[in-house]
Amino acid sequence: MIHNNTISKSRAIFTGDRPTGALHLGHYVGSLKNRLILQENGDNLTILIADTQVLNNDLSKAKNVKNNILEVMKDYISVGLNPTKVRFALQSKVLELFELTNYLSNIVPMNQLLRVPTLKKEAAMYLGKNSSNLGFINYPVSQTADIILFEPDLIPVGEDQVPVLEFGNYIIRMFHNHFECNIFKKIVPMISEIPRLVGTDGSEKMSKSLGNVINLNSTKKEIETSVRKMYTDSGHVKISDPGKIEGNVVFTFLDLFHENKEEIKNLKQQYQRGGLGDMVLKNMLVKDIDYILAPMREKRNSLSDNQLLELLDNGTKKAISQAQFKMEEVRNIIFQ
Ligand code: TRP
Repeated sequence: MIHNNTISKSRAIFTGDRPTGALHLGHYVGSLKNRLILQENGDNLTILIADTQVLNNDLSKAKNVKNNILEVMKDYISVGLNPTKVRFALQSKVLELFELTNYLSNIVPMNQLLRVPTLKKEAAMYLGKNSSNLGFINYPVSQTADIILFEPDLIPVGEDQVPVLEFGNYIIRMFHNHFECNIFKKIVPMISEIPRLVGTDGSEKMSKSLGNVINLNSTKKEIETSVRKMYTDSGHVKISDPGKIEGNVVFTFLDLFHENKEEIKNLKQQYQRGGLGDMVLKNMLVKDIDYILAPMREKRNSLSDNQLLELLDNGTKKAISQAQFKMEEVRNIIFQ
């Protein structure tokens, strides 16, 4: 596993997002910030917008996919990903991915696949325990195809995706053993330093389905509304009451987003002694979050929808020619 502070010369980086809706602060902290670092380092970054993968989780989301692809492209541009440096590609247009998924499916033992821990957790989260469809169960296989067709050096993902990537390496080994070849590059996950942001309600993960997000395209008013509702300490009723820091969501966010760490240290002491109101902290946090999101709001509409789609189209074309080249090699190995 590689952490994002190991900066070296230009590497091929490949990652993906499911376009399920506008991206939020959790994405920014957990993955987008890391991508900006990679971009500045001069790495070759490809981002796959995994639109077909959305269907694996919930077929009814198909109707929103087209619009969400545009929203996600706007999010990328607004955080500062530079389209002249980053290649964006649309999964559903790269047909070789589905071809490779099909071939790989014949190698994967079903019982091993069902043991991938991420699959179990996500099935419970998205589908309810007993309603997994075949497409969903097969997603570690299709995600492996996404990756190995493009031969990247590193794959930045959230921690919860690591078992899926490890399973990918297992598939590669099985393929190499069976066909007595060595054509796929080992999958190397890259985990960002802050893998997960808590939700505004204090639950473990900021997630759209839990309704505890602050979207990157939020207005200042929307930030205010979210922060006002944040949990602090239910024992902290009067300003003079001593308050708790542990589990206090506002402090968790301030720790991340307030630049002056010394000031936070002092405020924590004051809060624990008593005499510091929640509103003071919340107003600070609104300012801190708005400081990050305001420039994004400005950049968000710097490109028209058509320009964004054209960018995506150009990136996808390049991805297709790379995929076609590799697929030819794969076919020649399978059908000798
Ligand atoms: N499953 C990833 C997610 O959680 C999206 C994804 C699809 C991906 N294909 C990928 C990530 C390939 C990394 C590499 O959104």
